[in-house]
Amino acid sequence: MKLITAIIRSYQLDQVRESLIAAGITRITVSRVSGHGAQKREEVYRGKKVIPSLIPKMRVEIAVNDEFVDTTVNAIIEGAKSVSEVEGEIGDGKIFITPLEECIRIRTGEKGSNAI
Ligand SMILES: Nc1ncnc2c1ncn2[C@@H]1O[C@H](COP(=O)(O)OP(=O)(O)OP(=O)(O)O)[C@@H](O)[C@H]1O
Ligand SMILES: [Mg+2]
Repeated sequence: MKLITAIIRSYQLDQVRESLIAAGITRITVSRVSGHGAQKREEVYRGKKVIPSLIPKMRVEIAVNDEFVDTTVNAIIEGAKSVSEVEGEIGDGKIFITPLEECIRIRTGEKGSNAI
């Protein structure tokens, strides 16, 4: 099992959700977060270095069995690109994949791939 965490542009959320649902991925957790990625240039204001502003983003979390990782990642990428389907833009976001040790459905006590 893997936990897929994507940080995306807030206004791309519906498009990402549509893309995931179309790919058969129907379980999701979403939260409002803020952050910044790589700064391409150092910002200086009146001779002082200025730290980058935090930009509101959406964090999308999806826990999947290993065989669904590629489908999920591809659907997120497809939905999260802000301009062209081919190229994408700076700030379109990032996807992190982490090993997921366990998953338990509270209602039934099922564990692992049956519970996910
Ligand atoms: N290494 C990281 N660790 C934690 N959060 C990150 C990291 N990289 C990106 N993020 C989060 O993802 C959001 C989107 O990142 P962003 O797409 O700007 O990444 P980037 O590396 O700067 O790539 P790009 O050059 O396409 O902008 C950031 O605002 C931040 O919240
Ligand atoms: Mg960036």
